Amino acid sequence: MDFLKNIQLVGKMIFGAGSFDRLGDILAEKRSDSFMVFLVDDFFKGRELANRVPARKQDQVLFVNVDIEPKTAIVDDLRDRMLQVSGQAPDGVIGIGGGSVMDYAKAVSVMLTNPGPSSRYQGLNLAKNASVYHVGIPTLSGTGAEVSTTAVLTGPEKKLGIKGDFTPFHQILLDPELIYDVPRNQWFYTGMDSYIHNIESLTGHYANTLGNSLARQSLELCRDVFANGNPTDIASNEKLMVASLMGGLSLSFSEVGACHAFSYGLSFVLGTRHGVANCIAFNQLEEYYPEGVAEFKAMVSRLGIDIPAGVTAGLSESQMEKMIDTTLALEHMWRHALGQGWKELISRGKLREIYQRM
Ligand SMILES: [Fe+2]
Repeated sequence: MDFLKNIQLVGKMIFGAGSFDRLGDILAEKRSDSFMVFLVDDFFKGRELANRVPARKQDQVLFVNVDIEPKTAIVDDLRDRMLQVSGQAPDGVIGIGGGSVMDYAKAVSVMLTNPGPSSRYQGLNLAKNASVYHVGIPTLSGTGAEVSTTAVLTGPEKKLGIKGDFTPFHQILLDPELIYDVPRNQWFYTGMDSYIHNIESLTGHYANTLGNSLARQSLELCRDVFANGNPTDIASNEKLMVASLMGGLSLSFSEVGACHAFSYGLSFVLGTRHGVANCIAFNQLEEYYPEGVAEFKAMVSRLGIDIPAGVTAGLSESQMEKMIDTTLALEHMWRHALGQGWKELISRGKLREIYQRM
């Protein structure tokens, strides 16, 4: 019965062009005389969006670098900096950026009320105290992080999320006008995260009517965007934003599968960003997802996207072993992809052989 998930969804949601202008009013309802913290992707430093953040005098605006995958040590540092301001947790944490900023906002909100290092909470429902009010405002579409119950983090020992009832946002704000200026490859990699979520959600042992319905609609939007759209088109961005949300929700009731298991290994050992790591892995997984991979390859070729090759070529033996360990530790993904008997269906040798092709 472990597939019957009882999930904490996001709280309030506002969707549509121009909704960012409502943020000040939305936050006003949640303010005491304390402060709020805006975590903003440092891509926006000096850009127009940074000036539109409705920060009051007492608030903090912290620009976060997301060149590397979110780390537990950075979460702990952000938490400590926020607590230093007045010795108390802020009234709210507002994340503005892509999936990594969403993950930081979710994780920090949990860690402001739970003691110790965030690496201690990598797992399911390990936090005992309710998180600080937190808001997610995506500026890049595909990861589903705006709606997921997980804040994905790389810690000293593993890449695993802080997952549970206190992680999801209390409020999300989806304004397609915020999504612009995304380089073409990045647009594709991140959007493909959503496409792959849907394929994985649909083709596993936890697939169900609710997850399937969301995934199919999300897939239709992804196909439309990658057949007819481009990164500077507002209609494309609106569709991808909805695809990301529905794909993320689909996963919440189903699960990711083999591609994410491989992708986490690449990210943990090589630091490869999630979207591109998925694309590198998915490119080699015809055996598990024949139709999805064929369609993926057709999209890559039509759009002229670069999928890195040979990324595992220079790995040391210990790095390869660590990559395989990381992948095998993601038992819930394998159980979904291959069923309860998954351990009989894959071996370290098989994983190595697939990694060597990446
Ligand atoms: Fe993903």
